[in-house]
Amino acid sequence: MSNLLVIGAQWGDEGKGKIVDFLSPAFDIVARYQGGHNAGHTVYLKGKKIVLHLIPSGILHADKIGIIGNGLVIDPAAFFKELEDLKSIGVEVNEKRLMVSRSAQVIMPYHPQMERVSEAQRGKKMIGTTCRGIGPCYEDKAARWGIRLADLLEPEILREKIEENLAIKNKILEAFGQPVFQVGPIFEQYQRFGEKLAPFIKDVSAYLYQQSKAGKSILFEGAQGVLLDLDHGTYPYVTSSSCTAGGVATGLGISPKQISGILGIAKAYTTRVGSGPFPTELKDETGELIARKGDEFGATTGRPRRCGWFDTVAARYACRINGIDLLALTKPDVLEGLTEIKACYAYEYKGSKLKDFLSDPYVLDRAQPVYRTFPVWSGSIHCLRDQEKLPAGFVDYFHWLEDELETPVGIISTGVAREDIICFKEKCSRLLGTKAEQLLEGL
Ligand code: GDP
Ligand code: IMO
Ligand code: MG
Repeated sequence: MSNLLVIGAQWGDEGKGKIVDFLSPAFDIVARYQGGHNAGHTVYLKGKKIVLHLIPSGILHADKIGIIGNGLVIDPAAFFKELEDLKSIGVEVNEKRLMVSRSAQVIMPYHPQMERVSEAQRGKKMIGTTCRGIGPCYEDKAARWGIRLADLLEPEILREKIEENLAIKNKILEAFGQPVFQVGPIFEQYQRFGEKLAPFIKDVSAYLYQQSKAGKSILFEGAQGVLLDLDHGTYPYVTSSSCTAGGVATGLGISPKQISGILGIAKAYTTRVGSGPFPTELKDETGELIARKGDEFGATTGRPRRCGWFDTVAARYACRINGIDLLALTKPDVLEGLTEIKACYAYEYKGSKLKDFLSDPYVLDRAQPVYRTFPVWSGSIHCLRDQEKLPAGFVDYFHWLEDELETPVGIISTGVAREDIICFKEKCSRLLGTKAEQLLEGL
């Protein structure tokens, strides 16, 4: 096993940051392939909380190379702020250690503005986006109006593209009573961004090809989650990028054959931020308790996350469409102290039992989850590092999940710290080969 993909198997915020941080020592390069600074990946380093948005979490390891692929949308101001934030905690990141694809799209000042118009226009059906300009930037990419990072280095082309874009955008903004933008100030600001970004801008695809040939290994860091994928998620309540495994190849300019294994990350319950269907949502005290105990507030926007029981119908779908080899189950410690634990294994829909997920909101809104109830387990999992001490009730719970999902659970995360983790050696070795031993030794 040389290259591994880490992917969110729910609606995002599954704990990808923590798991990527744990796995990074076994890889040479950590690469993001989609999304933008809508992501918030939390890592605890010596007790200190760090949230990464655009830069791969692996960058916290001083000997790793970080890659930002062409599949991302980049807000240059957010990029430089993240570099500054990292510097302020002693993590030096320069162009030798971080590369951004020439073909990545640039988030322009009119994108968040267009997004606010679009969200307001939807009224009650608003998506509840992060308002970072992600959707409108991907819209421009697909409509072929987009400005790419390499364009920032070509003043004439940059000015022309800004002019072309504003000729349309300003008309729309004006029609909705919004302030319009002037070419000059944007051109000057983004030309300066280009000068600052220039050392980081590379042909990422060619770099990854050469490094792979030289025997270097890559950890692909997914953002968001399968159910937020533009094609396979709960459309239209999704993000605008391909979060699924297919996005790796297009988002980095590599062959799909380069993905040697796929690790899915799932919480022991489910959360979602923003609007959209959520069959197992708990709109009661239990939901509030899980949110409180799990500290379920968005790492990017601070919004409260909606909480509910584990949904095996949705997670099985995530395993199927991505070919997930192994799962890491995070935050089971949060379920301690509840009076009962439930997990959904089917939906009741139009008089029959559905076991296969359908992503349409109007189906999911009417689907009634069918639950299995588990006894609460005695004994604590919080910060547990010894698999022998896992409570029997919890072991029954995750073995049942494995059966329902037809996918083994090889990693259990038991707390926020890197070391709060239990790895089942045999299952991990099957996926990670000798890297598994290296990681276990590092604990
Ligand atoms: P990501 O977007 O998938 O990287 O996840 P986020 O960082 O947005 O949210 C996951 C949250 O859960 C973070 O605050 C993590 O510190 C925290 N977390 C991760 N694993 C565990 C765990 O096993 N137990 C507990 N209690 N918290 C965890
Ligand atoms: P990580 O990588 C959870 C959600 C937003 C909204 C929808 C569309 O931390 O798991 P967007 O701004 O992307 O157009 O918003 O997607 N969303 C996330 N939810 N985790 C994320 O990232 C998310 N990134 C976007 O809340 O519902
Ligand atoms: Mg997050």
